[in-house]
Amino acid sequence: MPEIVFAKPALPKSGGLALLLAADEPLAGLAAGVEEATGGALGRGLAAARFKAKKGETVTILAPGAGLARVVAVGLGKRDALTPLVLEEAGGHALGALLGDEKGAIAADGLAPNLAAHVALGASLRAYRFDRYRTTEKDEDKPRLATLCVLGEAVKTRNAFAPLKAIADGVTLTRDLVSEPPNVLNPAEMAERCRKLIDLGVKVEILGPRELRKLGFGALLGVAQGSANEPRVVVMQWQGAGGAKSRAPLAFIGKGVTFDTGGISIKPAAGMEDMKWDMAGAGAVVGLMAALAGRRAKVDAVGIVGLVENMPSGTAQRPGDVVKSYSGQTVEVLNTDAEGRLVLADLLWYCQEKFNPAFMVDLATLTGAIIVSLGHEHAGLFSNNEELAARLREAGEATGESLWRMPLGEAYDKQIKSDIADMKNIGGRAGGAITAAQFLQRFVNGKPWAHLDIAGTAWADKGKPTTPKGATAFGVRLLDHLVATHHES
Ligand code: BES
Ligand code: MN
Ligand code: ZN
Repeated sequence: MPEIVFAKPALPKSGGLALLLAADEPLAGLAAGVEEATGGALGRGLAAARFKAKKGETVTILAPGAGLARVVAVGLGKRDALTPLVLEEAGGHALGALLGDEKGAIAADGLAPNLAAHVALGASLRAYRFDRYRTTEKDEDKPRLATLCVLGEAVKTRNAFAPLKAIADGVTLTRDLVSEPPNVLNPAEMAERCRKLIDLGVKVEILGPRELRKLGFGALLGVAQGSANEPRVVVMQWQGAGGAKSRAPLAFIGKGVTFDTGGISIKPAAGMEDMKWDMAGAGAVVGLMAALAGRRAKVDAVGIVGLVENMPSGTAQRPGDVVKSYSGQTVEVLNTDAEGRLVLADLLWYCQEKFNPAFMVDLATLTGAIIVSLGHEHAGLFSNNEELAARLREAGEATGESLWRMPLGEAYDKQIKSDIADMKNIGGRAGGAITAAQFLQRFVNGKPWAHLDIAGTAWADKGKPTTPKGATAFGVRLLDHLVATHHES
């Protein structure tokens, strides 16, 4: 990861320089300086490339003169349509084009500092790389960029970037957790990594198998019982609201299946390795808590993650087993691969009972069916509360982590009636993401709640401007934005 620094606008004498150019505007500021210093090479290059400064359009001009290794023009589109998200994406494009030189700079001299800070955020999000397990990569194959200098109103931009840096750090933490292989990141290891949030001022409590049995987390323990790696539940509390009167906290709950084989209802071999990221919901909750604490958010929030491994074995639960959930409701487990809802059921009931939260939002890579419904462009949003649902959708638009509202209703709920228990853990093939959400709703006890099915958005086979391919950390920026916009005094 390059170090990001801030400095006054001055033409760099070497390395790469990215210019952020709005459509239909003449070159100004540093861009005009480059044009002059290169004897018009910039303008000629852009004309030859037919550069229109459309949003996301990127042209690199190599060795244009004035000592620069490259100049990168990044289009912003129309200036009056600029948003923080557009600037994050521009920062991402710029970073991607600057990786080849040791020193890089982005000219943000035409931008207000609070917007320039989002350029830096986009660049740092794009710079993510998970290379912990590469030992033989040649230096020449690695990104070379060591320092990225954002040129503009240095002090104000650096100050505006401080809270955004905390968000980027939260995203990095989530991406690391989700990228780790499942032999390394088992429930105990993931719990240990949650414990590190103590350094940020988060209260962290880890419940092991003995405590979970005592509490009666029968649904979660049923999933865990096939694995030699014992389960953990981690409760993370950030108390940033201050003031004497303690307000109801916001609650975020994550599915943390560190590997999902399907259990006895075992999955096919092809693609099973993807199920290492079946803990992405929990990963997002951990990253969110780190972001909130890192930027000292003025809010009380609790994050709860259920960490289990779903394995087939002589001790694994069977299709047909009936388990007693923490709520007291019984569940007939007809498919051991519908395990995420069993984990979340106990967390949701525990959360509302113990914390009486203002609302609960859960994140889970819950169903393949949501991918059939929405592809990889939206996560599924299910909610019993109009205001919460609307705010989440807005936060999704603002951060580029888009949500699409899905229905809930009695007719779907009927589909999880069991012949011998209070419910079964699967509906039919039709509407599989909805019957899964319907199952969860039976454990929220009427509390305002939203469920985000992130099975299609937690991992990307293709990179985007601010998200290299791989773990996306979907949910961290979204929920941080929700908190910042509506819940900080
Ligand atoms: N973790 C999976 C869902 C999933 C599938 C996430 C593909 C990401 C990509 C979940 O535990 C699961 O196996 N769901 C089943 C439910 C079914 C048995 C009712 C599914 O979607 O097939
Ligand atoms: Mn499963
Ligand atoms: Zn799963």
